[in-house]
Amino acid sequence: MSFISLNLVTMMYLIASVCFIQALKGLSSPANARRGNAFGMTGMAIAAVTTVALILKLRAEAASAGAGNGLGLGLVALGVVVGGGIGAYLAKTVEMTKMPELVAAMHSLIGLAAVCIAVAAVSEPHAFNIAQAGQALPVGNRIELFIGTFVGAITFSGSVIAFGKLAGKYKFRLFQGAPVVFAGQHMLNLVLAIVMVGLGLAFVFAGGVEPAWTPFIIMTAIAFVLGVLIIIPIGGADMPVVVSMLNSYSGWAAAGIGFSLNNSMLIIAGSLVGSSGAILSYIMCKAMNRSFFNVILGGFGGDAAAASSGGGSQPARPVKSGSADDAAFIMANAETVIIVPGYGLAVARAQHSLKELVEKLTHKGVTVKYAIHPVAGRMPGHMNVLLAEAEVPYDQVFEMEDINGEFGQTDVVLVLGANDVVNPAAKDPKSPIAGMPILEAYKAKSIIVNKRSMASGYAGLDNDLFYQANTMMVFGDAKKVIEDMVKAVE
Ligand code: TAP
Repeated sequence: MSFISLNLVTMMYLIASVCFIQALKGLSSPANARRGNAFGMTGMAIAAVTTVALILKLRAEAASAGAGNGLGLGLVALGVVVGGGIGAYLAKTVEMTKMPELVAAMHSLIGLAAVCIAVAAVSEPHAFNIAQAGQALPVGNRIELFIGTFVGAITFSGSVIAFGKLAGKYKFRLFQGAPVVFAGQHMLNLVLAIVMVGLGLAFVFAGGVEPAWTPFIIMTAIAFVLGVLIIIPIGGADMPVVVSMLNSYSGWAAAGIGFSLNNSMLIIAGSLVGSSGAILSYIMCKAMNRSFFNVILGGFGGDAAAASSGGGSQPARPVKSGSADDAAFIMANAETVIIVPGYGLAVARAQHSLKELVEKLTHKGVTVKYAIHPVAGRMPGHMNVLLAEAEVPYDQVFEMEDINGEFGQTDVVLVLGANDVVNPAAKDPKSPIAGMPILEAYKAKSIIVNKRSMASGYAGLDNDLFYQANTMMVFGDAKKVIEDMVKAVE
């Protein structure tokens, strides 16, 4: 019984790949993001159904050749039901602000899957059609399995640490935002990497039919340790780059395993994830004005993170504070207002009230624009997604490079739950975030900042903007404050 021919499998995989490329294209702008997602889901459905059909075909062929039905259809079904069920539940229930840690957790699973598949392929190569029973694994496959395993292992343990750092709620020291640095760290990493590659070569070029398990297992263990060591020195403010970097690694791990399994779908999808993650890492590095190696070598935001416990050791400085009514009065009498949304706006889920406030101000003749920093929030595009959810018109939303020149001529800047992205400390060469581009809110004629307290942002730094003579702090939860502003503008 043949369910599907190999040519049809190739054709379906090709269609799925085109869908994935269209998905990436669609996701490049909030205006097309839904279409992009629809393409992604269609591509994944085609890939999954085709793979199941392929398994059924191989199973039928194995049965007719008298080799039994060792392909474990029940296990595949169980995997689809359990994995799909958990995925659907998480997607339905996860809060937008918890998305980055969910993504990190997903990356860790991809890495672990790559390692498990590689171990299975090394142990039973004939079951994967890589070698005939009783024959040694070809050298080419060993190289692929070696690469897939160490990239997968580094992705797994690195993503687990990133998950902890992003969640920020576990007491375990390695899960805390502040970098973990020690003397000789880079040298240790280098030595471990060299030993890992050496053991990998020992595995690849070992003679005999039996795989060289000892170097393979030690190499895998070192890769797990390296994943931890690479991520622990990275400070809080660099986490955006880490998330996209691990995204890229998980793609390459999947592509590596695709080569081993001779599965073109895995190779294409893995390469798309790997290369788009690498491009995103580059964009993030540019947004933070940091070189990729600088991030990997770690320590950025270290002093800052140490101070993140609220800046207790800093002498108290006076700030000017006012009410939501005061802020509404100032904005309603301005000609131009720029709104800077940040992580706190997402926490408060205040995007719908914000849209209402902007409508009221616009109705009164005020020109209002939104300014988006590329790393505002906790994931790439977080603020764009938030505003798109409230159906804020795209023509009111401006990226940093397009709006930074306007702050100097703007009457009022309203900073809502943002902190690091407007911190002028980035202009100070001695600051831990020196060189990071910021939204230049400090140049505006009046600045209104809404947050709940004087606590620091993600990078753990005090923010001079809050102490400027022309800044007014409005303390409180963003949603409540904005709702009060809406009433006051009316
Ligand atoms: P942050 O610097 O994290 O500041 C957010 C501010 O929001 C906090 O100071 C907090 O002060 C306030 N806040 C929290 N809940 C609030 C609420 N309910 N109502 C009002 N205010 C509230 O945010 P940002 O300016 O958006 O900067 C993002 C930071 O995260 C950067 O350092 C970036 O590197 C990092 N990061 C970004 C990403 C990506 S890819 N975007 C990923 C990981 C990390 P109070 O506690 O006083 O209210």
